Amino acid sequence: MKLRLLGVIILALALSACGNNKQNETQTTAVKADAPKIYQNFCISCHGNQLQGGQGPNIQKVGERLDEAQIIKRIQKGGGGMPPFQVALKEEELKALASWLAGLK
Ligand code: HEC
Repeated sequence: MKLRLLGVIILALALSACGNNKQNETQTTAVKADAPKIYQNFCISCHGNQLQGGQGPNIQKVGERLDEAQIIKRIQKGGGGMPPFQVALKEEELKALASWLAGLK
């Protein structure tokens, strides 16, 4: 009985260690790539965690429709239900975000 309990504990530890590793991986990618992080902070509520849309449209392949300059303009000015982010985002954040989105095709 004692042995079995030990087994369960070891299994639980092994499982939680796996979980932690995964979390660390995603965290490092988020830190490395700025744009997805900015997206998470400002855009996810309307465009979804997979850019699949929600309150706003799906922008998973927005690069097919709009180029970087057009996306910058869109984010700065907002419109049609989207708020403008000209004040909230620094220029380099805006650029990083727009070039990332423009590359999604
Ligand atoms: C309050 C909700 C909301 C937030 C927050 C929001 N958007 Fe939007 N977004 C919209 C809506 C609604 C539209 C569609 C507007 C229209 O129909 O003209 C849109 C449109 C867009 C488009 C144009 C899509 C296309 O296919 O023409 C882009 C690009 C975009 N958003 C990017 C962003 C980015 C980047 C952020 C974060 C900085 C963001 N949005 C934050 C609601 C939002």
